[in-house]
Amino acid sequence: LCNEKDAIILAHYYTIGDIQDIADFVGDSLALARKAAETDAKVMVMCGVHFMAETCKLLSPDKTVLCPDLNAGCSLADSCKAEDLRKFKEEHPGYQVISYVNTTAAVKALTDVVVTSGNAEKVVDQLPEDVKLIFGPDYNLGNYINEVTGRKMLLWNGSCHVHERFSVKEILKLKERYPEAVVMAHLECKGPVLALSDVKGSTAAMLQYAQQSDKQQFIVATEAGILHELQRTCPDKEFIPVPPEISESGLECSCNECQYMKMNTLEKVYNALKTGQPAIEIDPEIAKDAVKPIERMLQMS
Ligand code: 13P
Ligand code: SF4
Repeated sequence: LCNEKDAIILAHYYTIGDIQDIADFVGDSLALARKAAETDAKVMVMCGVHFMAETCKLLSPDKTVLCPDLNAGCSLADSCKAEDLRKFKEEHPGYQVISYVNTTAAVKALTDVVVTSGNAEKVVDQLPEDVKLIFGPDYNLGNYINEVTGRKMLLWNGSCHVHERFSVKEILKLKERYPEAVVMAHLECKGPVLALSDVKGSTAAMLQYAQQSDKQQFIVATEAGILHELQRTCPDKEFIPVPPEISESGLECSCNECQYMKMNTLEKVYNALKTGQPAIEIDPEIAKDAVKPIERMLQMS
């Protein structure tokens, strides 16, 4: 079907292993955006979440971008509505807005520069020190960038429901059990988790570290889908996922899985390719402003 339709399949590391195995390209959100900007294919099937498919469409407006399930949202993107950001900007005149890529096109249209977890530090470092900055929506990522750059960006109070829940207590227990292990955490994790981690970064940064390291054991605090690529590329190494905090009911939930990413199934990918639906459409007025901060990010990184 891909050959017939001149299509490529892009997948994020958090999608199920079966999808990663059939994808033409698997990457973090930065690599996926870059791929979307440069591909010659007429059709892209973006197996990830809705904002990732929107980013592909913004960068390649003439192409068909298919999103196997339009309900694949993102709790972080949901935590920042465009009308709330517009109001916040009005309350803070003179500030520039840095938005994490996990945002809707409407929020990006109100943004000066987009960042991903893979380039946030590099982009912020390039902005003149006297420029006042609002960073949103991920509080944990913004807080970390403030720490490493010495900036005092105003932070939006949003978070990812998966990354918020990794348990500090469980990491301490795992460190005791695997004293030689390297602890790796995504920058969306909360401060105390990052403070306990040896490697802090995007999904791609964690993968690269594990692949190049001569260590054998890694404690991993990010969405469990990444274990597929970690294990595929490092078959002799051991990866230990960090469990989430136990819920108040005492029942362990599977919150270290993003249910939105897991909405992508092989069947939905097949149907999307076959029918050319669901395809992403973005209001041209929003798209015109939303693409600028993404292009700026790509230039700056
Ligand atoms: P990456 O930028 O590391 O791909 O992360 C995207 C994401 O949604 C993390 O929850
Ligand atoms: Fe959004 Fe969190 Fe899922 Fe990433 S893991 S797509 S931030 S809900």
